Amino acid sequence: MCGIIGYVGKNNNAINVIFKGLKKLEYRGYDSAGLAVIANKKFKIIKSVGKLYNLDVILKKNFINANIGIGHTRWATHGKPSKENAHPHTDFTESIVIVHNGIIENYIELKTKFMKKAPKFKSETDTEIIAHLLKKNYKNNLLHTVQKILTMIKGSYALGIMCTEEPDKIVCAKQDASLIIGLGKGENFIASDIPALLPYTRNMIFLENGDIAEITAEKVIIKDIKNNVKIREIKNIQWDTMQSEKNGYKHFMLKEIFEQPHTIEETFRDRIYINEGKIHIKEIKFDEKYVENISNICVVGCGTAYHAGLISKFLFENFAKIPTEVDIASEFRYRGPILNKKKLVIVISQSGETADTLAALRLAKSEGCETIAICNVIDSSISRESTNVIYTQCGPEIGVASTKAFTSQLSIIYMLALDWGYKRKKLTNEELKKYLKELWEIPSKIFQFLKKSKDVRNVAKVFVKKMNKNKILYLGRHINYPIALEGALKLKELSYIHAEGYAAGEMKHGPIALIDKSMFVVAIAMKSSRVYTKMVSNIEEVKARGGIAVIIAERDDREIASKSKYIIYIPQTGEFISPIMTVVSLQLLAYYTSVFLGYDVDQPRNLAKSVTVE
Ligand code: F6R
Repeated sequence: MCGIIGYVGKNNNAINVIFKGLKKLEYRGYDSAGLAVIANKKFKIIKSVGKLYNLDVILKKNFINANIGIGHTRWATHGKPSKENAHPHTDFTESIVIVHNGIIENYIELKTKFMKKAPKFKSETDTEIIAHLLKKNYKNNLLHTVQKILTMIKGSYALGIMCTEEPDKIVCAKQDASLIIGLGKGENFIASDIPALLPYTRNMIFLENGDIAEITAEKVIIKDIKNNVKIREIKNIQWDTMQSEKNGYKHFMLKEIFEQPHTIEETFRDRIYINEGKIHIKEIKFDEKYVENISNICVVGCGTAYHAGLISKFLFENFAKIPTEVDIASEFRYRGPILNKKKLVIVISQSGETADTLAALRLAKSEGCETIAICNVIDSSISRESTNVIYTQCGPEIGVASTKAFTSQLSIIYMLALDWGYKRKKLTNEELKKYLKELWEIPSKIFQFLKKSKDVRNVAKVFVKKMNKNKILYLGRHINYPIALEGALKLKELSYIHAEGYAAGEMKHGPIALIDKSMFVVAIAMKSSRVYTKMVSNIEEVKARGGIAVIIAERDDREIASKSKYIIYIPQTGEFISPIMTVVSLQLLAYYTSVFLGYDVDQPRNLAKSVTVE
């Protein structure tokens, strides 16, 4: 939610650095954007509503030479998307300017307590109050003023602050929202996320909660609220810059779908030893005794990550015989889960910043549970706070709809479940080897499928042409039921078509009433599945009521051809491995449907990539 960027250097290039950084952060929010630079000891502030393109148009007409500035791309929480509510915000005299990612929970209280006689605020945001408080308390030292006012503030923040009295520095602060410092030569940067900094430096400091930093072109000083100096490790980030570019693809999402054979392989690398029939995940610190004694697992995530959790239940229960519960992170802490030292809690999050997932992790830790985080973003809050962290190794995921992170999350879950199944003597070495072989073959099968995805484009065209009621049902059973949920989620978020995922056996208990001759029903019918014949019966039930079946089927399935005109064939896989393959076809179906409808695939309306607010 919201992205911030800041630059201080010797070149008068701040506007370009900030704008390019905002482009890389746009996935975090895109309802408005703005930037502030200091030129001739005064702020120049430029803001616009809508996507960054609009800001670019203004900047092209108003280039300003400046060597310091901050910028922001917004996902509205307090106040509608408008120029007034867009960041940066200033105090009334325009001598302090700030950008903010997060939520100030006590902003109303602060407004009434400290600003009684203040003129009317310029925006409806929770952020503006910080600029006024800073001005009110400012005594020739911005860093000290920030330290002082942060004692008054409750909530989450990544802040970037400048002041005309000290025009050579940016002060930034972090609490429960990501903030990274990029170290250059004669120039330094701040940003919400790694890709915005990669064109300039690989040396980065990941600020920790409570850190407040003063940044000039030559120096970075990190302190806490009590003015103690904090020494933070400088990390060298090896991400490939190309991974955060479109690389010839029309959209990030398409590129990320096509990257999956590679990202799954990277996730397996140095963890699966195919010849020895062994899995070794070195990040996991438990010994074999602990694995033998795991009595219960609780898996928590949001959205797509939650769907990965639902699949994990099948795998932990079938391979390792460990009872597993799965929770939506935003519900978890409110349902009063029974947590104790014997429970292992696994949290799944691409961004590692999702507020509800982070809160679930904290609750689990406070109850003494062992925890594992499956994350993609290095050094994110969740990965830092969990006792164990396994990274998905897929590089930056920029498309708002999660694709490659999901299949890598599944890859990790397969490895954990198989490894623990073997260690708990629930799987023989032969069985382990068989599953490992099936897993190992997945990247090349996805590659084969993606090379010939004409079926998918055809179905997407039919959706767009024939669908007149804007509703689609996705049906799956057993381990592909969560994939029906995921397929429906992808379609609705990208193409604004109401799509619902259902366990096919439940169709008779309600949704069947929706079926008529305009209704498309996407059914996942894997021949290798124990519920294949039941899925085929469900398809017949749809057809008997005039519904139009679109079937995801295995390439060698001859029988299915007679069931529908619309079949998407995918390579054959083993029953338990199939979700990692079926989901790719549904990702692509959602992608093409959105493209054919003319929507912005990478930045669907109202969404943001990392949901750092509750
Ligand atoms: C859907 C999607 C979201 C995320 C969810 C969790 O395509 O991307 O549903 O999966 O917001 O995000 P992370 O994994 O960052 O915790």
